[in-house]
Amino acid sequence: MKIAFGSDHAGFKYKKLLIEFLRNQHSQQILDFGCFSEESVDYPDYALPVSECVASGVADIGILVCGTGIGMAILANKVMGIRAANCCSADAAKLSKEHNNANILTIGARLVSIEEAKEIAEAFLYGEFLGNRHMIRVEKIHELTGW
Ligand code: RB5
Repeated sequence: MKIAFGSDHAGFKYKKLLIEFLRNQHSQQILDFGCFSEESVDYPDYALPVSECVASGVADIGILVCGTGIGMAILANKVMGIRAANCCSADAAKLSKEHNNANILTIGARLVSIEEAKEIAEAFLYGEFLGNRHMIRVEKIHELTGW
C-alpha cells in the first residue's frame, strides 16, 4: 500500500517514528510531504498536499499528525473525495475503515503515546470497509453534500 504522510512541527517526531515503523515492520511504501523539523509551521500547508495525493489516487491512504489531529482533519475533510477520521484509539481507527471507509487518519501527537499511535496506524492500515449498509451511508454523505 502507498501511504502519504504529513505533519506539522507538533507531529514531526511521531511522523518520523510512524514512517520508520510502517516501512520497516509493515513493508509499506511511504510518500513524505513534510514537515521536516520541529520549527513552527502551519498544519494546512501539509494537510492539503497529502489530501490531494489521496483524493487523486496517487496514494491509497494518508496519515496526518499534528498536536491534536483536529486541524489536519478539518482541512482534509474539505478536499473532495476525502473522508478523514481523527482517532485516539485503535478501535476507533479500525471502525473508521469498517464503517466510514475513511481514507485519511489523523493523529494527535499531544494526546496519545507513540506506542498508541503505532497501534492506531496499524488498525487503520489493516481495517477493511464492510460495505452493505455502511456503503449506503457513505454514499449518502457524498449525495447530500453534492460531492
Ligand atoms: C500547533 O500548536 C497545534 O495547534 C496543531 O498542531 C494542531 O493541534 C491543530 O489542530
